[in-house]
Amino acid sequence: MGTAKLVAKGTVDKEQEKMRKKTQDMILHNVKGERYQALPDAGMPKAALLAKLRDESAQETKWRKGQVSGTVYHGGEEATEVVVEAFRAFAVSNPLHPDVFPFVRKMEAEVVQMCCAMFHGGPDTCGTMTSGGTESIIMAVKTYRDWARAERGVTEPELVRCKSAHAAFDKACHYLGVRLVEADFDPETFRMDVPHVRRLVNRNTICIAASALTYPQGVMDDIPALAALAKTARCGLHVDNCLGSLLLPFLPAAGFPLPPFDFAVPGVTSLSADTHKYGFAPKGSSVVLYASREASARPRPRGGRCGWGVRAEVRGVTGPGRGRGRSCGSTSTLWRQTGQAGSTRRRLSRAAARAR
Ligand SMILES: Cc1ncc(COP(=O)(O)O)c(C=O)c1O
Repeated sequence: MGTAKLVAKGTVDKEQEKMRKKTQDMILHNVKGERYQALPDAGMPKAALLAKLRDESAQETKWRKGQVSGTVYHGGEEATEVVVEAFRAFAVSNPLHPDVFPFVRKMEAEVVQMCCAMFHGGPDTCGTMTSGGTESIIMAVKTYRDWARAERGVTEPELVRCKSAHAAFDKACHYLGVRLVEADFDPETFRMDVPHVRRLVNRNTICIAASALTYPQGVMDDIPALAALAKTARCGLHVDNCLGSLLLPFLPAAGFPLPPFDFAVPGVTSLSADTHKYGFAPKGSSVVLYASREASARPRPRGGRCGWGVRAEVRGVTGPGRGRGRSCGSTSTLWRQTGQAGSTRRRLSRAAARAR
């Protein structure tokens, strides 16, 4: 290695070490007090435990002052009260078992249905609730991989996403054995470079991933152009609306005209929207929607397995998303809010108006 390269490497190593230490300090040393490495010998009385949790939570003030962006999305005190109350009602629940929790199934189905309508889905549009944007994206990529294998015989699947797209696509491709192909963005607008995407698409492409909005710049890719391209290439077009979530549909009414970005655009085949962002549900809530049942049925994300030798396993076939047990507290808060005489609609309209 040449001297200049050695010097550069030394500088990079030093900077990396500095960053590593800074990150470690930020994560580990910000929390004072006792550290538990194992179950303590003596438990804490309930009152003391709850007081401690309240005290610690009260010290986490940054988000209350509005000093964090992209971390917490909250709809104000009134909404938080509803969230807490609704969460309490369904803290003990499990949508994996609709026979035991029929109302939970109803809530999930209605949240999905409301989202299908909000994003201009047709009679065939369908979807599932998941634990967050990353899971929604993983499920969509799995759908495209399995669909392309079955319908087009694609055995070496590729997905085209922009450099500005969220890392969830990288995770999805990594987990699912899909080759990630990176498209440039326009240096002026930060939107996905459509001519570049056109050059990258080939017969192995299962999906183009577009953003509405991108996480780093908050811009919307040219969805109509990308959807038309996907249609010609016979691949899917996923719209990552995890960030825009339930806010985007309300922007036009607040005086911000938007280009079409959802199922109103022919060629948009799936869309993710995080109900735990501008839907104000607590973390652990998102939806993934598919334009048609035909594609979404392919991966059977609700898949279960028979043959455990016990009767209960057949319930697995009704599991949401990756199909696992979880609490439905988050869904109940969302459903409750949407059911509050349009309170979510009003809150979202107000949030959209405040953005002016
Ligand atoms: C555009 C976009 N996509 C996907 C995600 C992933 O969502 P989550 O953190 O809920 O997994 C985010 C999160 O901020 C996002 O902004």
